[in-house]
Amino acid sequence: MGNERSDAPMSPEEFVEPALMISGLCFSYPDTPNVLEDVNLKVMPGERVGLIGPNGAGKTTLFLQICGLLEPSAGQIVVLGKPVKNRDFRPEVGLVFQNPDDQLFCPSVRDDVAFGLQNMGLSKDEVEARVTEALSTVGCLELAERPVHHLSEGEKRMVSIADVLAMWPRLVMYDEPSANLDIRSRRRLIRLLQASKETMLIAAHDLELVLEVCNRVVLIDKGQIIVDGNPREIMGDDRLMENHGQEKPHSLVPHSHKSNNRPTCADSDSPGVIKPQARGSNPGPSPNG
Ligand SMILES: Nc1ncnc2c1ncn2[C@@H]1O[C@H](COP(=O)(O)OP(=O)(O)OP(=O)(O)O)[C@@H](O)[C@H]1O
Ligand SMILES: [Mg+2]
Repeated sequence: MGNERSDAPMSPEEFVEPALMISGLCFSYPDTPNVLEDVNLKVMPGERVGLIGPNGAGKTTLFLQICGLLEPSAGQIVVLGKPVKNRDFRPEVGLVFQNPDDQLFCPSVRDDVAFGLQNMGLSKDEVEARVTEALSTVGCLELAERPVHHLSEGEKRMVSIADVLAMWPRLVMYDEPSANLDIRSRRRLIRLLQASKETMLIAAHDLELVLEVCNRVVLIDKGQIIVDGNPREIMGDDRLMENHGQEKPHSLVPHSHKSNNRPTCADSDSPGVIKPQARGSNPGPSPNG
């Protein structure tokens, strides 16, 4: 009777294939053992998962396995229904590298963004249209003819993101995407991530970005998943965060009007506070200077 159908309603997750399924993943570098230990992770389409954890926790290593650049020592990774194979070119899976110099290598920005598209076998017109679209999205269209090695670090970051987005990926991994970005570019990035429909994993020490963008957080330390769940609950837990080299993001710390216990104008009767002078009591500069 094994083929009998259950009358119980299926949960939505049973209809939908996970975007990412990692089971029993272990990995060691030749000279660094147990960098990842029994990692299990299921990510559904459209989820935005923040991957947080201290330096050396294994975040980048995990990304390199998911996109097939490093082969697991044990375990299995299935992305968008297909097992990951070593060095398989899969344009539907994108990685924005932590170090843009590992990603950008063509003579010009335009060539770099076009490279993956040409490998996909797209027509010249389609390649041009996608390059223009991706560079406009990240605000770097005016850099198109520049040599990549002349770009500033923040410009390189945004061009690396264009490289990946041009391929219209369905799963994107961003490794420290806000590193080196100025306030304006960081805000552009956050808006872009918030508006994106693809599934994403974002490894970041910029916890405020994770709070603004992600609906789920995975805390990883010493190659193991410590906790997986709601970003505000996890990042708001002082002890958990401190135990793993993190700090509660500033925006989750309750604020009173008295920041840093410094007296405000409302406290102006406190000792040591210089009261603003009553209107009209300050003679101001004389008309003669
Ligand atoms: N090519 C390599 N050969 C040997 N060990 C490596 C190599 N790359 C990384 N490691 C080691 O693997 C561990 C995990 O490194 P990984 O770069 O994945 O950490 P991370 O969580 O991304 O850290 P960060 O926050 O600093 O980017 C570290 O102990 C690191 O020293
Ligand atoms: Mg890293």
